[in-house]
Amino acid sequence: GLAQDRIRIGLILPMTGPFASTGKQIEAAAKLYMAQNGDTVAGKKVELIVKDDTGTPDVTKRIAQELVVNEKVAVLAGFGLTPLALATAPIATQSKTPLVVMAAATSSITEASPYIIRTSFTLPQAAVGIADWAPKNGIKKVVTLVSDYGPGIDAEKFFKDRLIFNGGTVVESLRVPLRNPDFAPFLQKVRDAKPDALFTFVPSGAGAALMKQFSERGLDKAGVKLIGTGDVTDDDILNSMGDVAVGVVTSHHYSTAHNSPTNKKFVDAFLKANNNLRPNFMAVGGYDGMHVIYEALKKTKGGTGGGDALLAAMKGQIFESPRGPMFIDAQTRDVVHNIYIRKVEKKDGQLYNVEFETLKDVKDPGKK
Ligand code: DHB
Repeated sequence: GLAQDRIRIGLILPMTGPFASTGKQIEAAAKLYMAQNGDTVAGKKVELIVKDDTGTPDVTKRIAQELVVNEKVAVLAGFGLTPLALATAPIATQSKTPLVVMAAATSSITEASPYIIRTSFTLPQAAVGIADWAPKNGIKKVVTLVSDYGPGIDAEKFFKDRLIFNGGTVVESLRVPLRNPDFAPFLQKVRDAKPDALFTFVPSGAGAALMKQFSERGLDKAGVKLIGTGDVTDDDILNSMGDVAVGVVTSHHYSTAHNSPTNKKFVDAFLKANNNLRPNFMAVGGYDGMHVIYEALKKTKGGTGGGDALLAAMKGQIFESPRGPMFIDAQTRDVVHNIYIRKVEKKDGQLYNVEFETLKDVKDPGKK
């Protein structure tokens, strides 16, 4: 159709490389949203342009520039890792293009451009929940182990500060490289420190390797509990982790097992459309991101107002997500949602993050 009859969304994701599972989940979720809600909004045909940035910040930025200049996209979306979102933020600002962060979760990302809206989560939101739960459940002495970049550093800091506030101690803080981490030497240090628990953040997709080495080093047998943000018990790979994962307690905003009609509908449709691939928290960030874009287009009657009107229509949205109630704070442009404390349980031969406690309407504690 004519250019004025269509709206283009540039979805930039790691579709290859070590973070391809994030790209696969978000692309599948965005396509599911469009299949369920149609590809026409307010009389405009919605075109989703999916591009692979391989998880490399320079590539993300270059693709974003091309999509804005050549394809005239109304929205930039995706952003599978923090450095990819941060590299692209200046493009959003310069071109006044709303940028919807569907995956990356370092607190400060939304402060990198006034055109950024986030539908994923923040690590401070996720980390404080487990730091409140742990000391009430016999866990006082903790070692932290995180991926050495934005979200890991957020997780480490907000977990530690809250645990200390609650009377616990962090005896050692370990950081592993983001790419190709060898957990073994770090886990040996954890064993030597004999903590009550190891708190961890690793990005989506990396949890199985950590879990395997945790058990191979005999940490579980030595009585060290594993706790973390829910990234480590990622639903995408949880079933491949085996019994070492059973009983692991984490805090996060989404579980495939979240008990609501909205989620059951989402999970059933996602499984069906994707050859039984389980949707994880990345999928939900993508699905909800598409919802925010669609609802904004309805409000603007399909217009963008040079970017500003579309951005304004994204702020303040309240809706029922598969994760539970969700709100885009108009002031911070960041997501406000429930954080759940969950325990891995086996049901009918499958592993699930079963939610057993809810912290309601949690704002990002990283924002002043
Ligand atoms: C980020 C990436 C992840 O895979 C994750 O689980 C959390 C945060 C990030 O890079 O921001």
